[in-house]
Amino acid sequence: MKYFVLFAALCTYVLGATLQEHHQVVMEQIINAGAECAEKLGATPEDVDKLMKEQIPDNKAGLCVVACVNKKFGLQNDDGTVNKGSTLVNIEKVKDIDEDMYKKMSSVWSTCNENTGNDSDECNTGINLLKCMKEEGGKLGLTKESMGF
Ligand SMILES: *[C@@H]1O[C@H](CO)[C@@H](O)[C@H](O)[C@H]1NC(C)=O
Repeated sequence: MKYFVLFAALCTYVLGATLQEHHQVVMEQIINAGAECAEKLGATPEDVDKLMKEQIPDNKAGLCVVACVNKKFGLQNDDGTVNKGSTLVNIEKVKDIDEDMYKKMSSVWSTCNENTGNDSDECNTGINLLKCMKEEGGKLGLTKESMGF
């Protein structure tokens, strides 16, 4: 927990100025959401660290952190299903900053919300969405830094 507080404190944020600053804000939101979800679900800081390093935690609570964070960002609906909506707040903000990046991110999101099925377990849905976005993002040359996860 200390780690997250420290990290958040180190992050400076000026809204809407540059892409890098936007990513920093989003990263901070993700880290805060991850910490909140981990606490709620009883996942350990190690699980969250693993997720940040793009590894899949080997326990249920750790796995479910992804779905929980996805819900906070509107990628999954409250019932755990994939949100088919085309607009995500954090992606829309990129539009005014970097049009090319915006198009890539929108394209990744629309591909993944179409191709990811609703698993009976929302935690699996969350992981599948994440995997899809990494894969599709990779194809377009988007990195962890540019996507925020
Ligand atoms: C998953 O559920 C959502 C919400 O009910 C729905 O909009 C979407 O089409 C479903 N996805 C699939 C692949 O069935």
